[in-house]
Amino acid sequence: MSRRPLIAGNWKMNGLSADGIALAKGVAEKRKAEAALACDVLVCPPFTLLADVARALAGSGVAVGGQDCHAKVSGAHTGDTSATMLKDIGCSHVIVGHSERRTDHGETDAVVKAKAAAAHAAGLVAIVCIGETLAQRDDGRTLEVNKTQLKGSLPEGANAANTVIAYEPVWAIGTGRTATPEQAQEVHAFIRSELVKLVGETEADKMRILYGGSMKPENAAQLIALADVDGGLIGGASLKAEDFWAIARNCA
Ligand code: 13P
Repeated sequence: MSRRPLIAGNWKMNGLSADGIALAKGVAEKRKAEAALACDVLVCPPFTLLADVARALAGSGVAVGGQDCHAKVSGAHTGDTSATMLKDIGCSHVIVGHSERRTDHGETDAVVKAKAAAAHAAGLVAIVCIGETLAQRDDGRTLEVNKTQLKGSLPEGANAANTVIAYEPVWAIGTGRTATPEQAQEVHAFIRSELVKLVGETEADKMRILYGGSMKPENAAQLIALADVDGGLIGGASLKAEDFWAIARNCA
């Protein structure tokens, strides 16, 4: 099965108007200059920049996504943003269940599942993040933890068109420590085998599983080349158009 890779930048809580728009324009320029690029490209800026970045990227072929959404469509939820609102300002994707949200905001698998369902209902692709901590890996619980998170976070109706999985080992995020190709492939292949049980073989075969955690130009090629790695969710290295693009160019 050949899956079209997705290279997604998660800007996290970085960027003011001027530099955020400049970064988006830089990515758009690079995308336009490389019409034959064999992957999809997405950027996920902070909420404050979404509308401006969506405008800056219009017609460029680079998609825009949110970093989180609320599970409800609207209502009394101060400070939150719904998937419908994201869709309304031009987003096509939303990240749900990032480990930083799970840690900073106590998001459980059930919460992540409800957010992913809301994303689907709004017509967005949900990028569902899972991944073990270092303590869990050291305890030999990596596969079990990812299995539980995957099962608990995927809503009814998840399929390859509306869902992307991001495997982000927590110990590799922002640490400069990347999973080895063997570690990444082991977990990605395991996730795909679990997906077969959850969404069926056809959808599991088509569903993209991204790697995230200190992916950078120097290590992207070997990770993206792995059989069950279908692109990357990139934090730090997505904040410079040159670095982000150097990663995207590894997609054959
Ligand atoms: P870094 O690439 O900065 O390690 O972040 C990865 C990540 O959390 C992407 O969602």
